[in-house]
Amino acid sequence: MGSRMDKVRVALVGSGAIAHRHGYALKQNEFAELTAVVDVNRDNASAFAAKWGGSVYDSLDDCLGEVDAVYVLTPPSVRPDYALAALSSGKHLLCEKPLAASEADARRIATAADEAGTVAVMGLNMRHRRGFDRLRHAVHQGKLGRPYHFWRQRFGSGPGATGTITSKNWRTDPQYVVGMTVESFSHDADLLRWIMQDEIVSVSSIVYGTVPDMPTFDNNAYVLFRLKSGGSATITASWSSRISFNDCGVLGESGTAFLYGSALGNNGIWCSREFHIKTDDDEFETIEMIQDDLDEASYVNETDDFVSAIREGTTPRTTIWDGYETLRVSAAVLESSRIGAPVTLE
Ligand SMILES: NC(=O)c1ccc[n+]([C@@H]2O[C@H](COP(=O)([O-])OP(=O)(O)OC[C@H]3O[C@@H](n4cnc5c(N)ncnc54)[C@H](O)[C@@H]3O)[C@@H](O)[C@H]2O)c1
Repeated sequence: MGSRMDKVRVALVGSGAIAHRHGYALKQNEFAELTAVVDVNRDNASAFAAKWGGSVYDSLDDCLGEVDAVYVLTPPSVRPDYALAALSSGKHLLCEKPLAASEADARRIATAADEAGTVAVMGLNMRHRRGFDRLRHAVHQGKLGRPYHFWRQRFGSGPGATGTITSKNWRTDPQYVVGMTVESFSHDADLLRWIMQDEIVSVSSIVYGTVPDMPTFDNNAYVLFRLKSGGSATITASWSSRISFNDCGVLGESGTAFLYGSALGNNGIWCSREFHIKTDDDEFETIEMIQDDLDEASYVNETDDFVSAIREGTTPRTTIWDGYETLRVSAAVLESSRIGAPVTLE
């Protein structure tokens, strides 16, 4: 922060699937410049740089001197070394979710970010979706009265949906295995905290996988939460449903609101078609057709938010500690299911 820089020069580490969304977003921002691309798979890096720009480097160390910020878009298990290297050189940092593969590693990153004092965010792009933002607005404006229950249900088809692993990647690599509860549940736990403006104090869960050959891989999580305010929440999520289904809502003392709808394909569970609301002041329920598809827009908003925090000192919509907190929740969800009892978060 401090004096306004001309352009924020970015090194991007990990140039796989999600990196293309970030490449597009960086290209849209006139104050950002994609300077360097790093990947253990040089072919991925070269193809990425040819499409979105930047020069390919063999390691992050080789390009740290050329950049102001680092995007770490690798699988979570290898994220800490890159994030810590960026922070210890005084760079701004954007990490994809989940922040790391373990709570201890996530804490190391978040603590290092505090020490560095740079802008450090976790890329929780769902906070930049107009559907979830619409629901959050209704709650925060007090339209529903005191909110006391949050629910979220998303069923769809993910890795291992049919009981076998058909395409190998880091999520199902036997050495690392990152199941749904750590990977995409980070979005759900974060939406709960962000929309309710509340903290999770205990979880009771049932988590399991439907891939017999990979017993450590989970793709279903059914979770009941107690919130600090005294309220409650449920999140039910499956990667093994043949039909996509998605809804998310809030019960308040004087109103109810929810998002509903999905689209075909794996990303359908992150799309909302309709926003419904009815308060005690309304004679009828209102339905807004919001058509919030998961496309590049939320990544563009995320990059704009990050770049403006660096250049103008604005407060970013997410912090690195939000990333730590969601991983802590995922760990508690796994633990509660393992021991068959509620787990308390301090
Ligand atoms: N925000 C979202 O909605 C969203 C969506 C998808 C993925 N993600 C997250 O993004 C991250 C990456 O997921 P993906 O789907 O792009 O995976 P991917 O497998 O498509 O890409 C990962 C890339 O990282 C590279 N890589 C692996 N190990 C590396 C290392 N040690 N050093 C440098 N590069 C390395 C791989 O070669 C590959 O190019 C994950 O944490 C995932 O959870 C977030």
